[in-house]
Amino acid sequence: MRTVEIEPTFESWQTAARLLLRDGVPPADVRWREIAQPVQPSLVAEATAPPPGVVKVPRQFLDVARRAAAAPDPTRWQLLYETLWRVVHQNHDLLADTRDPAVRRLSALAASPGAGSREAEGAAPFIPAGAGITELRAAAARCTGCDLYRHATQTVFGLGAAGARIVMVGEQPGDQEDLKGAPFVGPAGEVLDRALADVGLDRQSLYVTNAVKHFKFEERGKRRIHQTPRANEIAACRPWLEAELAAIHPEILVCLGATAARIVFGDSFRITRDRGRFAPTRWAPKTIATYHPSAVLRGQDEAEQAQLYAMLVDDLRKIATA
Ligand code: URA
Ligand code: SF4
Repeated sequence: MRTVEIEPTFESWQTAARLLLRDGVPPADVRWREIAQPVQPSLVAEATAPPPGVVKVPRQFLDVARRAAAAPDPTRWQLLYETLWRVVHQNHDLLADTRDPAVRRLSALAASPGAGSREAEGAAPFIPAGAGITELRAAAARCTGCDLYRHATQTVFGLGAAGARIVMVGEQPGDQEDLKGAPFVGPAGEVLDRALADVGLDRQSLYVTNAVKHFKFEERGKRRIHQTPRANEIAACRPWLEAELAAIHPEILVCLGATAARIVFGDSFRITRDRGRFAPTRWAPKTIATYHPSAVLRGQDEAEQAQLYAMLVDDLRKIATA
C-alpha cells in the first residue's frame, strides 16, 4: 500500500496520478491523503511534462475529472484514479458507458453544486449548419450542451417523416423513451397513440419530437422519477428544435403541453385558456397547443382523465381536418 499525499486540487492529483500510472501502481494499492502543503517540489518538477510512454487520456475525462476534483467529497481522489486506471488499461471509452457505477459517481460529482461547473454553452455549437434531419440526429447524439446528457442513457431525438406536414412537440423524454431512444413510446405515448387513432391520424406520417432531448430524473431507489426541465435547460436545448423545424418546415405545428407551448407562443401562454386555436408563427402557418398526454394520466380520477382525454381528442381532430 502506498500513501500518496496531495493538495486537494486537480493539478496536485494529476501530478501524482501520472507518476503512479507510469509506475504501474494499481488503484487498490494507493491510499490518498489530503495535505495543506504542496507536494515535494522534485515530484512536481518530474511530472510537469507527461512522462514518455504514458497513454493519452481523453480530453473528456480530464474535463470531468477537473470538475469532480472541485467537489467537496473526500473519496474523489480514489474514484478519479480508479477511473483513470480503467480508461488507460481497460476501456478508452469508459466515460461513454453511462451505466457504469464509477462513471455515474464521477458524473454526479462533476455535476454537484460544489463542483466548479462549467457554464453550459447550449446546443448551438453542436449543430451542423443547414443540416437535414438525418445529419441533425447524428450530431445530437454527441450533444453535451447542458448537464442533462451526463445522467441520461442517450439523446432522444425527434422521429418521423422528414417531409412530415405535421410536427408534434412534447416536453422531454421519459424513462421508457430514454431507454429506447425514441420519443413518446412510454405511457404518455400510449395515450397519444390512442388519441391519434381516434381522430384517424397516422403516427407514421407525423414527425414527433421534444423540447428537451435528454431525460431529466431523480433516482429514488430503483425508480427514476421524471423532473421538469429548468428554463436554462430548455433554452440550452432549443437550438435542436429550431433546427428540426427549419429542416422540416411543417404546415402544422402542435405543442403538447405548456413547455412546448411557452417556447412557441411565449411565457404568457396558458394551456387551459389558450389551447385548441390555430395561429400563425414563424415556424408554421398553423400552430396550435393542446394538453400533454401525461396531463391526461395525471387527472385526479377517471372522470377527470376522461374529460382531459376528450379535450385532447377534440384538439387533435381540428388538426386531422385542417
Ligand atoms: N413526455 C414527453 O413530453 N415526451 C416524451 O417523449 C415522453 C413523455
Ligand atoms: Fe444537448 Fe439538449 Fe441534451 Fe442538453 S438536453 S445535452 S442541450 S441534447
